[in-house]
Amino acid sequence: MEVVERSQWFYGFLYGWFYDPLEGEHRNMIAKYIPEGSTVLDVCCGTGRLATELAPRCREVRGVDMSRRMLRVCQGQKKQHGLTNVDFVHGDATRLEEVVDQAYDYAIISLALHEMPAPERLNTLRSMARVARNLVISDHAVPQPKSIPGYLTTLAELCFGGRSNFAVYNEFVASGGVLGALEQCGISPEHQALDSKGIRHVVKASGF
Ligand SMILES: C[S@@+](CC[C@H](N)C(=O)[O-])C[C@H]1O[C@@H](n2cnc3c(N)ncnc32)[C@H](O)[C@@H]1O
Repeated sequence: MEVVERSQWFYGFLYGWFYDPLEGEHRNMIAKYIPEGSTVLDVCCGTGRLATELAPRCREVRGVDMSRRMLRVCQGQKKQHGLTNVDFVHGDATRLEEVVDQAYDYAIISLALHEMPAPERLNTLRSMARVARNLVISDHAVPQPKSIPGYLTTLAELCFGGRSNFAVYNEFVASGGVLGALEQCGISPEHQALDSKGIRHVVKASGF
């Protein structure tokens, strides 16, 4: 089935220059869940920053994203780091079977579920659970703390995503964020943690 191309105005190099550097702590938290030598599918991989950081200690990493603008940055990262065990494919997170040829040890997703309308969000999690033995899901914490970083997270969603995306984000919050989405899919969290500012939530699940 054809994959629709979908991008937002801030995707691509802008995202890589301004946003990626802010997510170091949160990405380290995700990486800690992944044992050395694992095979990893990075769903909605964005600029490929996390995938390229994981690649040196993983057996194989594949990034999947719907935005060709993001994927162009991924290819640049791969070349820059001289990585041979990572690749990036244009694909739809709700139909991962179309872009994988193996069962992965880990499927991970970072900062993408809050941008998806509920049916797409749940179908993405279900699709991840079909192609991997373990999941690591990370996104904005719900609720956000009443602090400057918490208010900035909400403000950034309004300013960058615009009104329609902000409505999607608000629905993500109202339905309980990552834990709410997992519950609706019948997937139980095994371990979870917040970052030091309380603005990012990382959840591990397995055995579904
Ligand atoms: C906010 S970015 C997050 C990127 C990266 N995971 C990170 O942590 O920085 C959301 C990404 O999800 C991708 N995306 C959204 N819906 C998707 C879908 N249904 N299939 C594949 N990619 C999708 C977007 O193209 C975008 O690159």
